[in-house]
Parts: sequence; structure tokens; C-alpha cells
Amino acid sequence: MRVPLLDLSEQYRALAEPIREAIDDVLASHRFILGPKGEAFEKAMCAYCKAPHAIGVSSGTDAFLAILTALGIGAGDAVVTTPYTFFATGGCIARVGARPLFVDIDPVTYNIRASAIRECLEKTCRRHSSGELKTKSGEKVRAIVPVHLFGLCCEMEAIQQISRHYQLDVIEDAAQAIGAEYPFGGKTAKAGALGEAGFFSFYPSKNLGAAGDAGMILCRDDQLAKELRILREHGMEPRYYHHAIGGNFRLDEIQAAILAVKLPHLESWAAARRAAADFYGTELARLGLTEKIGLPAGAYRDRGLTNHHIYHQYVIRTPKRDALREHLARREIETAIYYPLGLHEQKCFAYLGYKKGDFPETERAARETLALPIYPEISREAQRYVIAAIAEFFE
Ligand SMILES: Cc1ncc(COP(=O)(O)O)c(C=O)c1O
Repeated sequence: MRVPLLDLSEQYRALAEPIREAIDDVLASHRFILGPKGEAFEKAMCAYCKAPHAIGVSSGTDAFLAILTALGIGAGDAVVTTPYTFFATGGCIARVGARPLFVDIDPVTYNIRASAIRECLEKTCRRHSSGELKTKSGEKVRAIVPVHLFGLCCEMEAIQQISRHYQLDVIEDAAQAIGAEYPFGGKTAKAGALGEAGFFSFYPSKNLGAAGDAGMILCRDDQLAKELRILREHGMEPRYYHHAIGGNFRLDEIQAAILAVKLPHLESWAAARRAAADFYGTELARLGLTEKIGLPAGAYRDRGLTNHHIYHQYVIRTPKRDALREHLARREIETAIYYPLGLHEQKCFAYLGYKKGDFPETERAARETLALPIYPEISREAQRYVIAAIAEFFE
């Protein structure tokens, strides 16, 4: 049996007709960029995420670039984030001229640790008489960027407390966490709508995937939303008058139309992913394998949430990761490593001055984690095959 990491074919088969109709609509309308499909999708996302503003953009990366620009974060600033994430998180901070200030992760959730953020700010930064918080190298700390990795929210309550204390903005990298919920002060809030601003990626393999690149920004503040809409069109307002240096961050209508067809199915897809994750968890535990491998964290599981985790990825860990991966490949089971190297060790970030050993949990996760096949339509038969192959490896 061959088990792919992700298989989108059934999802497309089920929605082929409405998707083709939506594309035809766009073709017939001759409105290809920033039109009614995009507006309708933005409205639907506001309702789904309970966010005041949703701004469709060209990718998750561009969403983050636009947010940083709109908040005036750039040269001379520093932004706290995790080194255990996709490159775009650190890349965008560096591209606007700011310094990524890395903080290690929690070994169970793989998310940035709030206590480590506090420690970093208390021990390595200094409050100046002007009230500004500065790094050792003199940059002004401006924001915290929690990344809800693999579909599980970071400890947002603690992160918000820290951000309030130091007057920092919170920008959520929710690229992998659309629909994930977080228990906020007795209420439930959704990833992306927990900070000043947040963003999603609709890269095709995401839980809500486009047929190409697309992204979205959520934010609370009316003025910030207005600024972001202007920035996504080269900072232009009115036409051909540029009051800020923005970019071409526009969402195209075909992507918006496809995403709008898919969005109403997202909750049932999340439920199917959760059921698949629970099946992995129960079976791996039943076979006694949880002594050998670590399973994804069940944080917030008992807090009355529907989507305590949206399992964008189902990530296990073992010190024997590479050998296990080879064994699964021999059984035609596809797996992936997210991520083999922390951002602090990436060549392009050498100028930041970090070294191996600076973030031990990130480095251990990079050595030990392995993403198993997961998607809403994965069959129990395929999962049993994966589980049996894992058991065989540890025998
Ligand atoms: C954590 C994280 N941040 C940012 C991005 C960037 O999103 P995009 O690929 O849409 O530019 C991704 C997407 O892969 C991601 O996983």
C-alpha cells in the first residue's frame, strides 16, 4: 500500500462542480483581481473567525510583510519569535530591516514558550529611560510573533500579558492554524483573531488551500485595516498617489472564488483530521508505542473547545527519527520533516550571531520530529498500515 503525506484528490472530486462554476463566473466577469469574489470571501472569513476585518492578500508571506509595514516595524526594531517555524516568519522580519529575536520552544507543543519570552525580555533586554525596551544590540523591541505550529495555538493568554506589560504588538502567524480555537477568559476565540493582527496562508497543502498562492490578514483596528488595504496596492490612495511604500499583495478572484467554495467545509474537514489524529493516538498508545514516540500535545483538549487542534500536521517525535523515516519510506509511507534546521542555524541568518546550542529544544525537535500522513479523507486502513509499520520498526 502507498500512503501519501497528503492527498487532495477526494476533496477536489467532491467539490469539482462548484469550483468549476466559481472559476467560470470569474472568467465571465472579467474581474480578476480584488473584485466581488474577494469581498465575499473576506466577509465569510470575518464571520468564521469572528474578526472585525479580513483583508485578502497574495500569500501568507505577503500578509506578514504588509502587517509589519503597516505597524511601522523596520530598521532599528526587533521582533520576538520562534526559530522553529517555516522560513517566512523570520524572513519577513528580516526583509523589513528588523532583527528577529529568537526564543526557544516548548518541547511538548513545539510552540514558542511564554516563560522563555519573558526570560529573554527580562534578562537580555533593557528598559531605557524613554520607556523603550531595547535589545543588547540596541534595537527597539516592537512585537511578539507567536506561530501556532502544526495547528495548535500558542499560550496566548500569557503572551498577551507579556505584550501588555512591555507594550508590544502581538502578530499571530496563524498560517498553519486556520480554525484552531483558544480558550480566552472563559470564551473561545479563533487563531488569527487573538492579537492586534494575524494572518493565514492558503498555500494548496494548508487545511484551507487555494489552487495557487493566497493569504489573508485579520485585524481589529479600523485604521490598521484601512492602511493594510492601501499597502496591498503599493500604498496607493487615491489611484497613482502613493503615500506609503507598499507592494503588490493583492488576492486574485479565482483563488478567492475557490476558497469561498471550500470554506463551508473547513469545520467538517477539521473534525475528520481530529478523528484521524485520535485514531493514531489511541492505536499507538494501545500498542505501547507511546513509550518510544512522543505524540502531538493535547493542550486545551479538556477546555470545551471543538477545534482544540486542527492537525494541519500530525507530528510525532523519536530520537530514532531518521531510521524510522527510512523504514516508512521502504513501506511506501510518505513522511516529512518540519523543520530540519532552526532558523537561528540557517546560513542566511548567520549575521544575527546565534550559534548551535542556543535553542536546545528547537534543535532537538529538528532532530526528532516526523510528520505522518494526515488529511480529512485518510482511511483507517491506511492509518492502520502506517501504525503497523511504526510498530514493526520498534519491534
Ligand atoms: C508558519 C508559516 N508562516 C508563514 C507561511 C507563509 O505562507 P505562504 O506560503 O502562503 O507565503 C507559512 C506557509 O507555508 C507557514 O507555514
